[in-house]
Amino acid sequence: MNTGVEKQKETFEDIYSKSNNWSYWDDTDPLTRYLLDRRLQIGVKHLMKITNSLPQDWDVLVICGGVGGEGTILANMGFRSVTVSDISENAIQGCELRDSRLQTKVMNAENLDIPDESYDLVLVQDGLHHLPRPVLGLTEMIRVAGRAVIMIEPHAGIVANLLGMEWEDHGGVVNYVFRWNKLMFEQTVKSYVLQVPCQIEVIRLWNHNLVMDKVGKIFGGAQRGKVVVQLCYSLLDLFAGWLGNTTLGLFIKNSPLENHKQ
Ligand SMILES: C[S@@+](CC[C@H](N)C(=O)[O-])C[C@H]1O[C@@H](n2cnc3c(N)ncnc32)[C@H](O)[C@@H]1O
Repeated sequence: MNTGVEKQKETFEDIYSKSNNWSYWDDTDPLTRYLLDRRLQIGVKHLMKITNSLPQDWDVLVICGGVGGEGTILANMGFRSVTVSDISENAIQGCELRDSRLQTKVMNAENLDIPDESYDLVLVQDGLHHLPRPVLGLTEMIRVAGRAVIMIEPHAGIVANLLGMEWEDHGGVVNYVFRWNKLMFEQTVKSYVLQVPCQIEVIRLWNHNLVMDKVGKIFGGAQRGKVVVQLCYSLLDLFAGWLGNTTLGLFIKNSPLENHKQ
């Protein structure tokens, strides 16, 4: 194991051992729910539209999934099965306590010890930039995905490069904030899959949940706050293609199953 991976593991074991209160992932307040679900809703909606399918047709693996917040969102969307993996055993224990619908597996995202094409969909949100080799993390996701990959990570744009955080520090352990864009995502996918027929889509999004949460609360939170925040994101979306701070990469393998379904 690379020492960077070991340090991340130690740090996150420590972080996850210090709290067992992850209830915010299950918050039912409309504003909080909207903010937590938003990026995954966009990615999944897009994937279902492209593949003309429903979540119930897919088994999903989440990597770098922590205590399973994203797993719960996917289970709520109706995916057939959801497996959450993370390098931290404490995170996975937390995940098992939080949501009994989720299957779990402790795994290093740079070296997933499962066969090729084990899951239909493999998803990551805010995880690859914790790896010493983020590109390896993405190619591992592609390897174990039978049908599709969704990656939601920071975007490499001029503003983010100038103003964004370069190094993230979790309890003294530092990781580089690796940022993606359309070209990088496409090149990584193509170098790995070569000429296998596939579809690659990259959407540039905004993610300013901390600020939006404050804005929503100024307007009373709950349903009213949610409507205000939806409006703010709709306005920001007009510029997302040029300035958005998040890359949502979609890779769809053009498998016979996919063709059969259409
Ligand atoms: C910022 S947290 C995000 C967790 C989750 N996606 C969320 O939003 O709650 C990053 C996660 O990556 C995990 N992680 C770091 N290095 C990893 C590795 N090499 N393999 C798998 N997981 C890793 C950490 O344990 C942590 O749970």
